[in-house]
Amino acid sequence: MSSTPLPRVRPRRLRETPALRRLVSETRLHPADLVLPVFVREGVSAPVPITSMPGVVQHSLESLPEAVDAAAAAGLGGVMLFGVPEVRDARGSGATDPDGILNVATRVAVEASAGRLVVQTDLCLDEFTDHGHCGVLDHRGRVDNDATLERYAAMALEQSRAGSELLGLSGMMDGQVAAVRDALDDAGFTDTAVLAYSAKYASAYYGPFRDAVESTLEGDRRSYQLDPGNRREGLREALIDIDEGADVVMVKPAGSYLDVLADVAAASEVPVWAYQVSGEYSMIEAAAAHGWIDRKRAVVESVRGIRRAGADAVLTYWAVELAEWIRNGD
Ligand code: PBG
Repeated sequence: MSSTPLPRVRPRRLRETPALRRLVSETRLHPADLVLPVFVREGVSAPVPITSMPGVVQHSLESLPEAVDAAAAAGLGGVMLFGVPEVRDARGSGATDPDGILNVATRVAVEASAGRLVVQTDLCLDEFTDHGHCGVLDHRGRVDNDATLERYAAMALEQSRAGSELLGLSGMMDGQVAAVRDALDDAGFTDTAVLAYSAKYASAYYGPFRDAVESTLEGDRRSYQLDPGNRREGLREALIDIDEGADVVMVKPAGSYLDVLADVAAASEVPVWAYQVSGEYSMIEAAAAHGWIDRKRAVVESVRGIRRAGADAVLTYWAVELAEWIRNGD
């Protein structure tokens, strides 16, 4: 009787028990590697729910300290603040006004955090311009790269004065890291760090975010954000930003760009982060609300996949809840 030879190599051996699986896990999640994006809206007294992002709100200045406190208590690495101003104009004046919503919110968040986590700010004009673009426009209505750099430099100074420790440059203008670094250094803010959203793709997954900040954008951002088909260009952008002095580089969105993330992680000399964006959040929430997907497992798997591909830290709207799951060991 001929017998099939028994397998000599049995990878399943290490999958047999929960204890073994835990011991050999290659990718662990930790609350300190998570950053929570936080929206702060001007002129409201209570948090306003964001319909397209169930469970996420626009905070008021009054509710912000509690949100920062919850993030710190959960052990998160940081919060990333976004401002939703009441009034917008062509230059995005609110962004460089010390009393503008984002700068005021930063002061509030820094006080609430009391050094327990890193208070970070989105440095971009789109929430502050009436046309919704990430920069100022030239006389033909195109985004003017170099004029925008001056606005970013001024924003960087105001955000630093407000106490932001890490400036998240998300506008995708050429030369933005160098322009901001020079402005900071000239003003003595040599310790303010720069997070470059280096490989930021022109993505449909930002849809719910645009509701969250009540974006007025018509058209798209394809003349400055990357073409979703371009892998090599994502790495190139990260290397340029590192060269210009970025302290951290980021890939965004995360889930559909894990190859880019892995490329950047392999080549980078600075920490590499990823942003699991609004649409990635809303897709899982929507499917889970229908009972079509196991919410908790899908959330954990989505963030683990991003860490596995090479992200040192992840910006995610689930940060607080996920941190609680991690601490409870489930
Ligand atoms: C620009 C900015 C955007 C996001 C973060 N910073 C929007 C955009 O580029 O249109 C998207 C984040 C998300 O979708 O969760 N200020």
